[in-house]
Amino acid sequence: MNVFHIVGARPNFMKVAPVMRALKTRQHVVQTLVHTGQHYDANMSDVFFEQLDIPAPDVNLAVGSGTHAWQTAEIMTRFEPVLLERKPDLVLVYGDVNSTVATALVCAKLGVRVGHVEAGLRSFDRTMPEEINRLMTDQLADLLFTPSEDGDINLQREGIPAEKIFRVGNVMIDSLRKLLPAARDHNQNGLPERYALVTLHRPANVDDSSTLKRILQSLLEVSQDLAVVFPAHPRTRKRIADFGLHAEQLRLLDPLPYVEFLGMQSRATVVITDSGGIQEESTYLGIPCLTLRENTERPITVSMGTNVLVGRDPGKLRLELSRVLAGQAKKGSIPPLWDGHAGERIAAVVAE
Ligand code: UD1
Repeated sequence: MNVFHIVGARPNFMKVAPVMRALKTRQHVVQTLVHTGQHYDANMSDVFFEQLDIPAPDVNLAVGSGTHAWQTAEIMTRFEPVLLERKPDLVLVYGDVNSTVATALVCAKLGVRVGHVEAGLRSFDRTMPEEINRLMTDQLADLLFTPSEDGDINLQREGIPAEKIFRVGNVMIDSLRKLLPAARDHNQNGLPERYALVTLHRPANVDDSSTLKRILQSLLEVSQDLAVVFPAHPRTRKRIADFGLHAEQLRLLDPLPYVEFLGMQSRATVVITDSGGIQEESTYLGIPCLTLRENTERPITVSMGTNVLVGRDPGKLRLELSRVLAGQAKKGSIPPLWDGHAGERIAAVVAE
């Protein structure tokens, strides 16, 4: 049985690693790793392969950056001949990035079966490019692997038959659990005892100059009470420079490798973010998370975990931060099946 895995952007790497590892033990499964090249900087891609022990890609489509239409189309055009030549039995796609929907669409048109890892998540906000990617990919997939019950409910509401849905748990947490000991051992020279760890890269937060300016202003206010450590996505860095904004009081860093970031996250006083994966990781770690978004496709991190949606309201951020600093942060628990074995459960379904 020939199984393809598609990765392209940073959050995919943490998701593919445990599934590939689990499938390695199945003798009859031959795995092929395809990297679309959506992310290409060493610190957005290569370093994750090393730390997560992912084999080098068998195929690299090297698409690079562009508009949504251009990038999606380019991935499709470059992926189609690979699929026609190698004829896999199943293609596993991960998460909600452009690489995910582009390759799922090519497979569906050529009659190749698709499995979607991290299916069923919905923010119900179609201004988010990822929401479009999630909706489309789930309609095209033959096997839908969900991380939590809300995923199953969303899929069934959209008419996906129950027999296609497999609640397997959260693959990101598989990677987290594997590397947490190394992350905790990692020496964090020069970091203060208490700090807010910030990440920011959603187009809705960083692509508009007045919105980004307001968020940076709120973070500067935070930094009066608590050091702010801010590993910045290349997109965000570029916008700060393009808009001529200032963020000198924030400790702006380059994007960090997985182990270093996880270590920093596990010791943070609070995490302030607009990332999806970080909402989940902080819930697992029990670290308070203030999310700079009006909605989340991961509602379980709010209902069960440590996540609070503060939107773009500086007052709400201030209020929630003061709760954290007063030792009154929300306490959470770890959702079911976020146990480090999601990859094995996916492998069991795939191998059948
Ligand atoms: C993508 C995903 C997003 C995910 C994020 C994680 C989509 C629609 N978005 O957003 O869901 O949360 O990855 O990082 O797929 N760039 C570099 N170097 C790189 C990659 C990107 O400098 O290696 C810069 C380029 O200027 C590029 C911009 O970042 O235009 C945006 O990259 P892109 O892949 O289009 O989207 P992300 O914002 O990274």
